[in-house]
Amino acid sequence: MREKVTIIGAGNVGATTAHWLMARNTCDVVLVDVVEGIPQGKALDLYEATPVAGASVKVVGEQDYAATAGSSVVVVTAGFARKPGMSRDDLLNMNNDVVTQVVKKAVAVSPDAIFIVVTNPVDVMTYVTWKASGLPAERVMGMAGVLDSARFRTFLAMELGVSPKDVVAFVMGGHGDQMVPLTRYSSVGGIPVESLISKERLDAIVKRTRTGGGEIVNLLKSGSAYFAPGASSAEMVEAVLGDQKRLLPVIAHLNGEYGEKDVYVGVPALIGRGGVEKIFEIEFTKEEAEAFRNSVQAVREPLSVLGF
Ligand code: NAI
Ligand code: 2OP
Repeated sequence: MREKVTIIGAGNVGATTAHWLMARNTCDVVLVDVVEGIPQGKALDLYEATPVAGASVKVVGEQDYAATAGSSVVVVTAGFARKPGMSRDDLLNMNNDVVTQVVKKAVAVSPDAIFIVVTNPVDVMTYVTWKASGLPAERVMGMAGVLDSARFRTFLAMELGVSPKDVVAFVMGGHGDQMVPLTRYSSVGGIPVESLISKERLDAIVKRTRTGGGEIVNLLKSGSAYFAPGASSAEMVEAVLGDQKRLLPVIAHLNGEYGEKDVYVGVPALIGRGGVEKIFEIEFTKEEAEAFRNSVQAVREPLSVLGF
């Protein structure tokens, strides 16, 4: 039997995630949205692409959560996207209501699912999902590090004129301007980037990574990025469904790791069928530790606004 993945929010990121999952023949997909016709239309359009894509999966669109019952993974993209001049935290209250409501409905019919949260501000919405779902913390995670690291890897590849697939790099912390791209742990074909790129250029690449979401928002003028976010979300879904034991930067619940408790934030973790199966604790320099602490603090502030 094929596995079912529900994507709540059939907007740009939700539909693009569904596209990747369909095109790679990964799983059946149920798209859910409040707007009548949108999930039905996009799902049918994707389903009609399966013969061309050579895929054997089913894609359906619904308003009713009954169709999502028994999902292995639920991806939450419902909410409002960032507009120019709007910070991620401006979205806080609006998206808190949406996420709480959709997660309660989804978990009621898919109590065994792993939840992957995308809605911004994503570190906070992942915490909101954990609370609203009542699930064990390891079965709830957020997507940001895969995207931020993909941006970081792309910018490093652009700088060196090499294939992005040879670039290993990762970003920790909250999905905001204080995220922590770690140049010291980044390499190209095994060669540390710090020996290939000047400090000045690396600093510029780190800055561009931190503001990567805003760069796309400013270019698009309406809405935010969705191709790379969709690809990143699909990669996480596949890591779970395939029990791939991937080591990915994800938003995970910290319970003492990195000296932090009761917060969801981006860290390297082992992702498999159990969700976040292990958090890896890497060594920081003094500067890196301080940058991570500041980034966690930037996540705690909106959490406290919501009363957590
Ligand atoms: P979008 O506006 O294209 O899609 C959002 C969809 O959610 C809309 O179709 C809307 O009708 C739907 N929706 C709203 N309330 C709902 C409800 N109660 N139930 C079901 N559906 C509902 O936005 P887009 O571009 O897809 O972004 C979605 C979210 O993901 C935003 O919050 C955005 O900021 C965030 N995002 C996060 C990223 C990350 O790295 N974590 C990357 C990119 C986007
Ligand atoms: C991004 O980084 C908007 O958070 C979203 O593209």
